[in-house]
Amino acid sequence: MSNVESYTATAKWLHWGMALIWIVAWLFGIVAVHWRDEFNPQHQLTFLHKAMASVLLFLIVLRVVWRLTHPSPAMPATMSPLMKRGAFAGHLLLYCIALVGLPMSGWYWSSVADKPILVAGLFLLPALVEPDQSLYDLAKSIHTYTAWLCGVLVGGHVIVALKHHFIDKDRVLAGMLPGRATDAPS
Ligand code: HEM
Ligand code: HEM
Repeated sequence: MSNVESYTATAKWLHWGMALIWIVAWLFGIVAVHWRDEFNPQHQLTFLHKAMASVLLFLIVLRVVWRLTHPSPAMPATMSPLMKRGAFAGHLLLYCIALVGLPMSGWYWSSVADKPILVAGLFLLPALVEPDQSLYDLAKSIHTYTAWLCGVLVGGHVIVALKHHFIDKDRVLAGMLPGRATDAPS
């Protein structure tokens, strides 16, 4: 059982940096598809969406290594064993589906469609699989449905974090906020 009170500074930077990229990429994805004529006539938003979201594929490697080598704060004693298991499962789902599965599904879709992904506008991501137009609709559906599922997951995650802070009044959100005196060494 961990006895640190707070995530390390590096873990916080990774969490909030990736959260910002994730939320903006999600909103750009929605606007790119559903307001195409108004805001995405030349696919500029699609380009930005892919350039930002693909960065997550690199940051997640660093984040997982950091997470496995540094303890996270213990959950409050006021949480029941069931709630603690739920929180653990929720975080695991966020890692597996929102931070790994969803960017991988976008990479897969662009690969079967033979479309480039310019990571952060800097370099091309190699194709994950050979182009295959017969898989286009399947790849598109996987990315779209996963993206909406993740919107619900992340929305739930934010609501639970706010509930901890404002209703349960425990230290769960504080442990992820910057600049706490109790920060563990990073
Ligand atoms: C390498 C990573 C990714 C690639 C290559 C990619 C690619 C794409 C493409 C090509 C589209 C369609 C855009 C258009 O038709 O103009 C799209 C849509 C979308 N993407 Fe991604 N994506 C990636 C990662 C992500 C991530 C990480 C998220 C969530 C933060 C996300 C959320 C969405 C959403 C919400 C849509 C719109 C879905 C809809 O309602 O049709 N994508 N993506
Ligand atoms: C305003 C938005 C957000 C808030 C307020 C927030 C808040 C938090 C808090 C308080 C924790 C610590 C929970 C604990 O220790 O039990 C946490 C952890 C986590 N958050 Fe967020 N979060 C936000 C956005 C996101 C986004 C967009 C993602 C990913 C798509 C994400 C993924 C995670 C993951 C994977 C963890 C587990 C960290 C670990 O134990 O390694 N969060 N978040």
